[in-house]
Amino acid sequence: MIPIVMAPARKSETRSLGRLAARSGLLYGASTSTADLTSPYLLEAILRDCSIITPEYELKWDKVSPTPGEPDFRGAERLAAFAAGAGIALRGHTLWWHEAIPPWLAEATSDLFVKAAQAHLASTVSRFAGGMHSWDVVNEPLHLEHGRDDGLRRSPFLEALGPGYLGLAFKAAADLDPGAVLVLNEMGLEYASPAAEAKRLAMLRLIERERKAGTPIHALGLQAHLDAMDQPRRHPQLSAFLREIGALGLTIMITEMDVSDARCPRDRRVRDTLVAETYRCFLEVVLESCTTLAVQTWGLSDARTWLTTARPRPDGAALRPLPLDRAGRRKPAWHALAAALSAPAREDPRRPSLALP
Ligand code: G3I
Repeated sequence: MIPIVMAPARKSETRSLGRLAARSGLLYGASTSTADLTSPYLLEAILRDCSIITPEYELKWDKVSPTPGEPDFRGAERLAAFAAGAGIALRGHTLWWHEAIPPWLAEATSDLFVKAAQAHLASTVSRFAGGMHSWDVVNEPLHLEHGRDDGLRRSPFLEALGPGYLGLAFKAAADLDPGAVLVLNEMGLEYASPAAEAKRLAMLRLIERERKAGTPIHALGLQAHLDAMDQPRRHPQLSAFLREIGALGLTIMITEMDVSDARCPRDRRVRDTLVAETYRCFLEVVLESCTTLAVQTWGLSDARTWLTTARPRPDGAALRPLPLDRAGRRKPAWHALAAALSAPAREDPRRPSLALP
């Protein structure tokens, strides 16, 4: 039985990232796990800073259905109850993702896979419909290295359903939760490399095709896993891409931002400065180029970041990629986010410029 901890009253903080973001018509938040809610300092930081949260893994297919049979939404329901009690918006991450397919489907026939994938989407969206700010309906559809003209990843979803799988997923989600923002979430669109530019072009073509087919994609999710040593401070190619995304009628959500300092000099002050500068410059590029709904970091505190296992520093020093340090104290990155989020107010981003399908 997962204990339901009711959220304590939110402290009236004069300096809250969520409140600063609201002044600019934005939501600010972070990925959150049920484990985070048992940490007093993380709980306090989430309540102070977040106006939106995303279950880090509790709503993923492999976590909800580790075995065949009834889905187990208890972890996600725990986070949903917390968010509702605290007046924080909630994101559904993620319905169809090639890295979150339950292991018992590894050898499934195409028919069985399709039935299971459609049943998962339907049961998950139905369970939380009406309570979700947005759904990452499809995560990471592109992988140009697979050599397809359309740049699509040769995922089990593509193999079983063909390129139309995106339209199927988005239309099913729109039917079941018509009030939610439906997001196509992708990684690696933010960088300055030729590969990233090719991926941005493939994403534009994909969205053009889907919109022509009437697929209800409302927003593009930029995961924004950045590297302090690589991310350019000015980025005209990214600005141009984001403007084209807006011209296609989509808004933007920054869904999983963090700034790796794995390749920075060891000195903590130097690392914190480089990380903070990367946050500020990236947000300035995005916020000046398009209508943005929300800015989210993938985690709040350096104490818990996926980068620790995925991209450690060669010298073994603890990473410092997030707004709060390991004890929950604000770092230069927090202040950089605060400065970028509280820039002059923007038009209300909740209604994209063009009519949506
Ligand atoms: O399942 C256990 C759970 O029972 C236990 O209570 C908990 C204790 O911490 O650990 C859970 O284990 C793992 C969890 O990470 C720990 O945080 C999960 O098994 C494991 O699947 C999970 O990995 C997540 C990963 O996606 C795969 O789903 C990471 O948390 C999460 O940060 C990472 O996030 C992805 C985004 O969804 C998509 N974009 C890339 C990003 C980074 O890989």
